[in-house]
Amino acid sequence: MSNILLTGIVVLDIINYVDSYPKEDSEIRALNQKIRRGGNASNTATILSQLKHSCTLATNLPTDTSGQFLSKDLDKNNIKLAILGTSRAYTSPTSYITINIQNASRSIIHYRDLPELSFTQFDKILLNTIDWFHFEGRNIRDTSEMMKKSHGFNKSISVEIEKDRDNIDSLIPLADIIFFSRPFAESRNFSEARDCLKHFNSIYPDKLLICTWGTEGAFAIHNSQEFFSSAFYIDKAIDTIGAGDTFNAGFIHAQLNKLNINESLIYACKLAGLKCTKDGLTNLDIFDV
Ligand code: FRU
Repeated sequence: MSNILLTGIVVLDIINYVDSYPKEDSEIRALNQKIRRGGNASNTATILSQLKHSCTLATNLPTDTSGQFLSKDLDKNNIKLAILGTSRAYTSPTSYITINIQNASRSIIHYRDLPELSFTQFDKILLNTIDWFHFEGRNIRDTSEMMKKSHGFNKSISVEIEKDRDNIDSLIPLADIIFFSRPFAESRNFSEARDCLKHFNSIYPDKLLICTWGTEGAFAIHNSQEFFSSAFYIDKAIDTIGAGDTFNAGFIHAQLNKLNINESLIYACKLAGLKCTKDGLTNLDIFDV
């Protein structure tokens, strides 16, 4: 069991299941609706907590009705909130998600007016018992301050680079492990994970760089050595929301259990694949590392 600190937003996911994606300016009926806690680091914490780690999430959470639901759900999943002051003035971040049940594609409309977690808030958290720091790559200036402070504790630091944001590359040298998403790689005009990783490896050779590519598997490069795991074969994807967040949790868990890079990639792919066969993020603790 390790103590893991994660930063990122907590989101109310309102998920509508439809039997085909709607045309613009049409009206259709959802087959089912679910309301869940989401957000990348928040999802990663859910999995890590199932895998018996002690997780603390540093985040801003308003006290509106959604915020109360989200904070209860964190509690139910044994995820501690680094209490940083709540705010009545804002709405909890909300994702309106449409899942097409034919292919499990998920389209997301995200709304947020909540200010980002600041370094001043982060600076109040006691960090000396933390074994692993995981950051969402957002609010770059403050996040880089948080990462610099975390360095002082000599523990592993990972960062998720999911979307291209101004100056996001500046976070890469501050982490040991960098999780790039496929949309990020594509936004930088890389048509393959390997090309993206090779590019960043030429700039940051000593970093462990990882990029997932859906059903094509996951790739990593470290000190110019390349690693690959194919995706875990599944018959039918049911729900892909949070599959990438699950992959990240799997990789962190495997590394904490001293698996090597190849073994960690395989374990993370297995866990992410398994997640796609399940609705939500429950019962994902069935594979041993
Ligand atoms: C999935 C997810 C959802 C959330 C959205 C935020 O990775 O974290 O739970 O609504 O992405 O961008």
